[in-house]
Amino acid sequence: MKAMRFYEYGGPEVLKLDDIEPPQPGPKQIRIAVKAAGVNPIDWKLRAGYMREMMPLTLPAGTGYDAAGIVDAVGKDVTGVAVGDAVFGRGQATMAEYAVLHDWAHKPDTLSFTTAAAFPVAAETAGRIIDALAVKAGDTLLVSGAAGGVGSAVLQLARASGIRTIGTASAAKHAYLRSLGAVPTTYGPGLTERIAALAVDGVQAAVHIVGDGVIPELVAITGDPSRVVSISDVQAPQYGVRTLFQDGDATAALERVAALYVAGGFTLPVERTFKLAELGAAHDLSAQGHVSGRLVVVID
Ligand SMILES: NC(=O)c1ccc[n+]([C@@H]2O[C@H](COP(=O)([O-])OP(=O)(O)OC[C@H]3O[C@@H](n4cnc5c(N)ncnc54)[C@H](OP(=O)(O)O)[C@@H]3O)[C@@H](O)[C@H]2O)c1
Repeated sequence: MKAMRFYEYGGPEVLKLDDIEPPQPGPKQIRIAVKAAGVNPIDWKLRAGYMREMMPLTLPAGTGYDAAGIVDAVGKDVTGVAVGDAVFGRGQATMAEYAVLHDWAHKPDTLSFTTAAAFPVAAETAGRIIDALAVKAGDTLLVSGAAGGVGSAVLQLARASGIRTIGTASAAKHAYLRSLGAVPTTYGPGLTERIAALAVDGVQAAVHIVGDGVIPELVAITGDPSRVVSISDVQAPQYGVRTLFQDGDATAALERVAALYVAGGFTLPVERTFKLAELGAAHDLSAQGHVSGRLVVVID
């Protein structure tokens, strides 16, 4: 099968289109013929070697966690899914013609493979954020970095639970945030004052998804570091803020977003699609930090 891999850490040019044996699913895993695979920031961070201490890789390494496709092999102890089923989920080395998934859900017929491939990491992470903050209906959640994949998923899962959201993004994306049920505001200087004007009843919790240096302001806005979490800043604990770096089983989150998609309450825009051999360009665009929703690689 064709697979994108890298033999050394480095820029996008280290990605090579290899011809290798397809992986075999282990117990509680499935293999899919990949139709589409979502690009996450972790993909280029790993490739560049930024995570080599936290998550060392055996090289050559495949890349990609998100995928949607057709089940073509089922491992031991797998129930509820069969060869030929259309699924989306999380796995390893998904930027390939075949990939092994460890968490998945059936793909609704009305959901395209391309859009489904954008969901898994964003949906699992968003569910984990909302659970960790224990926000409930009527609370206001401030989302720093609301327009990307994870932020867009948080806004929609919050809306589905009656949680109010204020999201930060550049002005050009404010209509997009409104379409996801959020009150938008810009990031940068003056955030505390803008939030005070927007949230007259206060902000009960905040999540730092993107935004350099904003964590102290999120603590000041909520008035309590235990009401703030970060998914991307290892320095957050110095402000008393929890980090959420450990992912969990994604199955429940995937089933939830599939059902919400069918009910019209969840989706992620696919800003642009790429061919497998163009993955380096997708990594480059993701690393610029201004994608709305997700970038997706479509496998012919
Ligand atoms: N811990 C975990 O389990 C976990 C899981 C998933 C992701 N992550 C991490 O979380 C981060 C976000 O992931 P993602 O997939 O959501 O990324 P993404 O989709 O690439 O996020 C892009 C968005 O960030 C926004 N942005 C850029 N600068 C900003 C700023 N200063 N303030 C607020 N928003 C800003 C951009 O909006 P504008 O264009 O309007 O600037 C853009 O829409 C990454 O660092 C990723 O590695 C962690």
